[in-house]
Amino acid sequence: MELKIMITEYEIRERIKTLAEEISEEFYGEKITAVCLLKGAFIFTADLIRELKTEVEIEFMRIKSYKGTEKGEDKLIYNIETDITEKNVLIVDDILDTGGCLKTAFSILKRKKPAKIKTCVLLEKERKKSISADFIGFKIPDKFVVGYGLDMSELYRDLPYIAVLGN
Ligand code: IMP
Ligand code: MG
Repeated sequence: MELKIMITEYEIRERIKTLAEEISEEFYGEKITAVCLLKGAFIFTADLIRELKTEVEIEFMRIKSYKGTEKGEDKLIYNIETDITEKNVLIVDDILDTGGCLKTAFSILKRKKPAKIKTCVLLEKERKKSISADFIGFKIPDKFVVGYGLDMSELYRDLPYIAVLGN
């Protein structure tokens, strides 16, 4: 299949620098626990945390959506391992589509009584969502994209840019 570049490696790098500045300001002088939503956000999280000016701890969480077969709730596959009570949490995801995945992560983490929870997504699709993100890298049209952590059937996560799959 043909790949059409939507956001270049350079554009991603530059945007992450400004996003990291905004996040560092929000959490000024505090420590952040960044919760990376696997698998899609692993590359974005790695690049983002290296630009943050605050102290940062990393946790991972995996939520899988069973759309089609098992309708409804997204399923928690892997949860964070440390206590986040009274901590400042930043949930990091790759893309906000319907919002189901981020909303599920948010409500699971909220129950653990952190001091503050903020959300950050690299991409946000143009459509009605059940949750909004506090920090957004790029707003994109409602197209299926791959690269920079995002996959299609587990492929293309390794691309350094965001691309649209065509034919
Ligand atoms: P939501 O729960 O509908 O917001 O979907 C979010 C999750 O679906 C993301 O974290 C991705 O894993 C996946 N996803 C949604 N849109 C795309 C896309 O265009 N390409 C690759 N994965 C996507
Ligand atoms: Mg995901």
